[in-house]
Amino acid sequence: MKVLCVTPNVAIDRTLTVPGFREGGVWRAAHAHIACGGKGINVARALKPLGQDPLCAGILAGHGGRLVADAAAAEGLAGRWTWVAGETRTSFIIVGEHGRATVVNEPGLALTDADWRRFIADIRQLAGGCAAVAISGSLPPGVSDGALRELIAAAAGDGQHADERRPVWVDTSGEALATAIATRPADIKVNADEAAALLGWKIATPTDALQAAREIRRRGPARVALTLGDRGAVIATDRGDWHAWPPRLHAVNPVGSGDCFLAGLISGLGAGVTPEEALRLATACGTGNAIEVHIGLPDPTKLTWLLVGTQVRQVA
Ligand SMILES: Nc1ncnc2c1ncn2[C@@H]1O[C@H](COP(=O)(O)OP(=O)(O)OP(=O)(O)O)[C@@H](O)[C@H]1O
Ligand SMILES: [Mg+2]
Repeated sequence: MKVLCVTPNVAIDRTLTVPGFREGGVWRAAHAHIACGGKGINVARALKPLGQDPLCAGILAGHGGRLVADAAAAEGLAGRWTWVAGETRTSFIIVGEHGRATVVNEPGLALTDADWRRFIADIRQLAGGCAAVAISGSLPPGVSDGALRELIAAAAGDGQHADERRPVWVDTSGEALATAIATRPADIKVNADEAAALLGWKIATPTDALQAAREIRRRGPARVALTLGDRGAVIATDRGDWHAWPPRLHAVNPVGSGDCFLAGLISGLGAGVTPEEALRLATACGTGNAIEVHIGLPDPTKLTWLLVGTQVRQVA
């Protein structure tokens, strides 16, 4: 299945493993890793070992942009990029003790209206050849609500026959999340913090998470997946609601777990399995990422083991 993985606000991910890290002082990294960052690229990276055919898209600029495009290609990820003036940003991920990560994101590119129009035209064309779309991460600064609505519509196949439209999963936060929820036909992936900020609720338990997912679904989207880190995830759909929880494991680096979760979800749903089985695959993929240093899925043996160890139950 061809899946378009869109990152509107691409970043270069520099991951530094710094034992004992805390603020202040001079630190020596035990390990340094650079990856073509951007959450859509993470989704694409996880889709490949699941047997899918991802295509990365996003807005790139300058030397940083070329680094991202080259690194994606070197990883074997297909990419069709929209190039603009400026310089692609860098995200710093510092992995300290017990896999706790500190993330610092640079601000994104300042886009012109013409840049954004060109990006939307590119997405409309690329999505035409795909069975599903993921739109992941923040938007570049200054992009309006209306522009996000246009992006979702272009990704879904606006103006096409209903049977030629495709699912569009949106994984974002803040105002962009509120806009996506109000925009048909977006499906929504959020984590507990993002949902808590949106609703003004405390989301600590799977019961809270399910209530939140149902409330978000009530506001428009057909399907809402809400992830809870090591406490698993819930999904609310028109076919029912489920909760999945992974086996207890030592997490090494959970950054990108939500992206791997989304890859599993899109892969499962695209293959036509039940929401329950898609949620099991998604949760296993998220946990598989958390137990590895680098962003991506673990080897197939570990993933199979995680699938067996992930429990799912339907919630009435
Ligand atoms: N510490 C952990 N132990 C086990 N599984 C985890 C852990 N952290 C994440 N996961 C798995 O990954 C899934 C997604 O995690 P999480 O809720 O952290 O996503 P996220 O906050 O959107 O991540 P990101 O935005 O960094 O990609 C969870 O539902 C769970 O299956
Ligand atoms: Mg996330």
